[in-house]
Amino acid sequence: MKMMKKTLITLGLLSASSLAASQLANAGEVEVLHWWTSGGEAKSVAVLKDMMEKEGHTWKDFAVAGGGGESAMTVLKTRAVSGNPPAAAQMKGHNIQEWAELGFLTNLDDVAKANNWDGILPTVVADISKYQGHYVSVPVNVHRVNWLWANKSVFDKEGLKVPNSWDAFFKVGDKLKADGIIPLAHGGQPWQDATLFEAIALEKLGSADYKKAFVDLDQSVLSGDKMVEAFKTFKKVHNYIDTNSPGRDWNVATSMVISGKAAMQIMGDWAKGEFTAANKTPGTDYVCAPAPGTASEFTFNVDSFAFFQIKDKANQKAQKDLAKTILSKDFQEIFNLNKGSIPVRLDMDMSKFDQCALDSMASFKATSKSGDLLPSMAHGMSTTSYVQGAMFDVITNFFNDSNADPKQAAQQLAKAVKAAM
Ligand code: GAL
Repeated sequence: MKMMKKTLITLGLLSASSLAASQLANAGEVEVLHWWTSGGEAKSVAVLKDMMEKEGHTWKDFAVAGGGGESAMTVLKTRAVSGNPPAAAQMKGHNIQEWAELGFLTNLDDVAKANNWDGILPTVVADISKYQGHYVSVPVNVHRVNWLWANKSVFDKEGLKVPNSWDAFFKVGDKLKADGIIPLAHGGQPWQDATLFEAIALEKLGSADYKKAFVDLDQSVLSGDKMVEAFKTFKKVHNYIDTNSPGRDWNVATSMVISGKAAMQIMGDWAKGEFTAANKTPGTDYVCAPAPGTASEFTFNVDSFAFFQIKDKANQKAQKDLAKTILSKDFQEIFNLNKGSIPVRLDMDMSKFDQCALDSMASFKATSKSGDLLPSMAHGMSTTSYVQGAMFDVITNFFNDSNADPKQAAQQLAKAVKAAM
């Protein structure tokens, strides 16, 4: 018996070491560029690093701070142009197509086929991930952008209801202001200004005109009356943020809601990742609600990793393993629990997810049928990076100029878009 036990242990050790050896033989390095540096984001990306290391690969972290990814994209350009791109880079919708068109990305069809990506991904997401019908990127998650986050005890103490219209928002905001609480935590950076503006514009335009403006770039809708109304409301909202907002990072704004210094934030559900990292529970500590007046719409922001052509054979193998891991059920679950988003696969067990995620999933499915599933302009889903940049300029300049005129802003928006098309 003793002998047998010993043999079994030896055998076990042997197979463990031969596994390690075989892993080592196939081991490569993956260098991954991303902008996930806030508390919740860092916890999320660490899941991918751990999984890759468990598979025997080396993870080379290439983090470039800056929400929305503008700095990351600038750094990526420099690296790629010098002929030394990372294996994978976090990237959004139209940007993926732009990089693929320039011939930088690699073909992932073999991994996609072996793992049935066409079968497990919603079509709208699979389309984003492909260039001319071939997979060149891997989607990680689906973020809903049109959310409002509220500190529950602030609302309870004030005897207020979380607003579901802009009129209600202004009423609630007046009371909060009178009581010395900042109504809206906001970070004055172009992408955050655009995130807030987009939520307001969606409420004013409705789904059909939102698409006409931000996807079809229809001049008459961009400069039309509803857009003027959106700018008017946007201007009014400026009275409900604090004077320290310029330049503030989005996660700092979220922490103001967590601490109760501010009552609300309009931000995508990566904000939930910050609440989760601070051990806060939805329904008890905070409330997630659709951005005012947008309960039946869903602006989506899919995070993806674009895969670059790299030379080293072992690293190519590691790169394919990375692609496979990202869409595995295990990764999809742990990553999205931390990140605040919902899994990009529709065949997941959602029992560990909270009510905000369940609401998001239900809305994602419902709006994909109703026509109210809309690509986020602020997050590079609706149009090219050039047009997006032109829109950001108009939106941010307007928000920072107290004398700016809403009617003129809408006309400028249309003009800037035309010039960037
Ligand atoms: C978005 C990205 C999210 C999020 C946010 C703030 O562009 O899609 O994943 O983390 O930036 O960094």
